[in-house]
Amino acid sequence: MAANARRDIKPGTEVDIVLKKDQRTGKLTRGIVKDILTRSGDHPHGIKVRLIGGQVGRVKNVLNDRGSGSAIRQCNDRDFEMIYAIINEAAQVYKGVIPADRWKEPYMSKEELKHEIAAGVVFWGFEENNRLVGVMGIQYVQDVTLIRHAYVRLKKQQRGIGNKLLLELCKKSDRPIMIGTWADATWAIRFYEKHGFKRVSEEEKSRLLEKYWSIPPRQVVTSVVLADQQWFDNGKY
Ligand SMILES: CC(C)(COP(=O)(O)OP(=O)(O)OC[C@H]1O[C@@H](n2cnc3c(N)ncnc32)[C@H](O)[C@@H]1OP(=O)(O)O)[C@@H](O)C(=O)NCCC(=O)NCCS
Repeated sequence: MAANARRDIKPGTEVDIVLKKDQRTGKLTRGIVKDILTRSGDHPHGIKVRLIGGQVGRVKNVLNDRGSGSAIRQCNDRDFEMIYAIINEAAQVYKGVIPADRWKEPYMSKEELKHEIAAGVVFWGFEENNRLVGVMGIQYVQDVTLIRHAYVRLKKQQRGIGNKLLLELCKKSDRPIMIGTWADATWAIRFYEKHGFKRVSEEEKSRLLEKYWSIPPRQVVTSVVLADQQWFDNGKY
């Protein structure tokens, strides 16, 4: 993988870059590529990119060996059992964190999962060596897009898989995107904030959960809603 070749660097690639302010010292900043700013096929000082956090700099190292043998694809009926297994394994991190009256085992039953799919949640999966290790759903509701049920197998978390799935799903929507999660799932909130999502106000949250989601009142109290910039820019929602 070459830091100065555009073909080796894509949105979702993990890289080390040198920010303009660090050019003298050569200090490296690690992150995930959001956009590629160099237009030509190569650049002697490294391809210029913007990271998910907004930092701009030239790539010095491409760290994509984690992604080898991996692919993102839409899930189908044959993936049902695996989606069910991944959700319930990954959701173990909620145990003891979300309010006790919201926790159950399995966290999501097969009936609930079937109901979500029937309601229009389309799951996409991240595969490693032909095996699903992470899933994320997208649901078009009225005039917005919802990201639903984001889960990565416990041992595979924090290796950039969620980032890649989220980037891919965001590309599929030209409408405002919203995400609901547990207020206590601070790691999940941070994960979405890194992608530029921001929390909406408490009043707005209740209105939105009622309008676009169908969840019980107790879950409204214990949830947060995050929205993308397009939603905030539109203001009319
Ligand atoms: C949330 C989740 C889908 C993210 O996928 P992932 O592949 O683990 O995330 P990535 O490696 O792409 O991104 C990592 C970022 O997510 C956040 N994050 C994810 N899990 C975290 C954890 N356990 N502790 C702290 N931060 C965490 C951090 O901000 C991290 O950024 P950093 O690497 O700069 O510290 C995955 O961790 C998961 O399945 N968690 C359990 C279920 C859940 O909370 N789902 C969200 C439902 S809306």
